[in-house]
Amino acid sequence: MKKIGVLISGGGTNLQALIDNIHGDTAEIALVVSNKADVYGLTRAEQAGIPSATVSEQAFKNEKLFFAKIVELLQDYQCDGVILAGFMRILTEEFIDSFPNRIINIHPALIPSFCGEGYYGMHVHRAVVDYGVKVTGATVHFVNAVCDGGPIILQECVSVKDDDTPEDVQQRVLALEHRLLPKAVALFCQDRLVVEGRRVQILP
Ligand code: GRF
Repeated sequence: MKKIGVLISGGGTNLQALIDNIHGDTAEIALVVSNKADVYGLTRAEQAGIPSATVSEQAFKNEKLFFAKIVELLQDYQCDGVILAGFMRILTEEFIDSFPNRIINIHPALIPSFCGEGYYGMHVHRAVVDYGVKVTGATVHFVNAVCDGGPIILQECVSVKDDDTPEDVQQRVLALEHRLLPKAVALFCQDRLVVEGRRVQILP
């Protein structure tokens, strides 16, 4: 069974979806790392008996050393892949190079819309409502050097209704994320994803 590390910064509902749907089955979550102390995601890891660590950027001289520490931990726990499940930092090039095509992110919109720098959390759903689009969704993709720009693994949409608030959209998208992320991670762990340029082929 492949080992994965999950990086979080908050409540960790996507982490919970991974724990409930694939942990101990298609993958072993070997380590959870948070860049913020006292977030509920860490409690979720503890309750599931998964090792966890907090790595705060303030404890390091610079961003490179902060990310190098996370890479070191992931390697110590022999992680084959890394899942960004609400991790609110953009990775350094060195980090990405340490896990080529082995880092997966979930973005709460239909990439290439409403993505890139500045589009995170509620900013995304506010922009969706303000623009007046009729559908939005969630995208699971491999991480490369371009923010939210890596090859897309899975993507599905949900409707945006006329009277939706950004919070309504967030809830609808989050429910989709909880289904999509475990599915994509399972495919990765079963070696069923083949990356050819920008396209990801899913093997039967
Ligand atoms: C999710 O919407 C995810 O797409 C985004 O951050 C949010 C994290 O939520 N990157 P949670 O911590 O998994 O509940």
